[in-house]
Amino acid sequence: MPSPDERAPDERAADERAAAVSLREVSLTYGGKRRGGGVFGRAFKSADPVDALRDVDADIPGGEFVTIVGPSGCGKSTLLRLVAGFARPTGGEVAVAGAPVTGPGPDRGVVFQQPRLFPWLTVRRNVEFGLRTAGASAAERRARSDELLDLVGLSDSAGRLPHELSGGMQQRAAIARALAPGPRILLMDEPFAALDALTRERLQEELRRIWRRTGTTILFVTHSVDEAVFLGTRIIALSRRPGRIVLDETSTLPGEDDPHTHPDFPGRRERVAATVRAAAA
Ligand SMILES: Nc1ncnc2c1ncn2[C@@H]1O[C@H](COP(=O)(O)OP(=O)(O)O)[C@@H](O)[C@H]1O
Ligand SMILES: [Mg+2]
Repeated sequence: MPSPDERAPDERAADERAAAVSLREVSLTYGGKRRGGGVFGRAFKSADPVDALRDVDADIPGGEFVTIVGPSGCGKSTLLRLVAGFARPTGGEVAVAGAPVTGPGPDRGVVFQQPRLFPWLTVRRNVEFGLRTAGASAAERRARSDELLDLVGLSDSAGRLPHELSGGMQQRAAIARALAPGPRILLMDEPFAALDALTRERLQEELRRIWRRTGTTILFVTHSVDEAVFLGTRIIALSRRPGRIVLDETSTLPGEDDPHTHPDFPGRRERVAATVRAAAA
């Protein structure tokens, strides 16, 4: 979690620009390049290329909470995987902090739909895992995990194992683990999709609070229009595959106390829903 920022405003602004994600005519076609001979080459040859993303352009300044919404299979996860560095575009360029993405890095934390915690490690050890590999001392790790467990409301569960936690608590732990190395960007792929409705609402609230407190840039993928409009300071909607941007608008709603009761909420949700429906048809 970045500590309160005491630097001069221009210095801070420059840093925020550097934290930006930039997508330049990004396209990805799976299986487009045929492999050579051999058993695997023959096995891959039968698959037709799949155009997952086409010419996606966006500039995301630091500190934004961007929600990416679109129909199933439109390329949302693909887009996050490109920013995470798990995949490379077949066209265009993905850059983070002004540098082309060549692989995963500690500047980007990832949270998936399934928490993917290490089942044999306590909640605290899970949170500290990335810090250990980064070479932090035991005292540093302890201080950092205390801070993060408090942030996600899991201080009382630090010593428990993942299977002793509810799904919502496991996802809180996954968020704390992703934040541990102090990433500038948090990439979240339908993180609340597997949770019951009440837990999901609760975690949406919590995430807004965490975002406000840490100032982390968030890219959040969802297929729920309601969730996208509730959370996003900027909402990007993708068409059906190959995903193209069909809507990209900013919203002040997440700055409000309760976006759901804001007079702008129903209209914005309707507009985004209509765009997504039209683009999915
Ligand atoms: N590794 C892969 N190989 C081939 N096709 C893939 C692969 N991953 C995803 N796809 C296809 O690319 C399209 C976009 O997938 P994805 O990004 O997972 O969509 P979403 O997250 O929006 O549901 C889908 O048609 C999917 O089947
Ligand atoms: Mg997906």
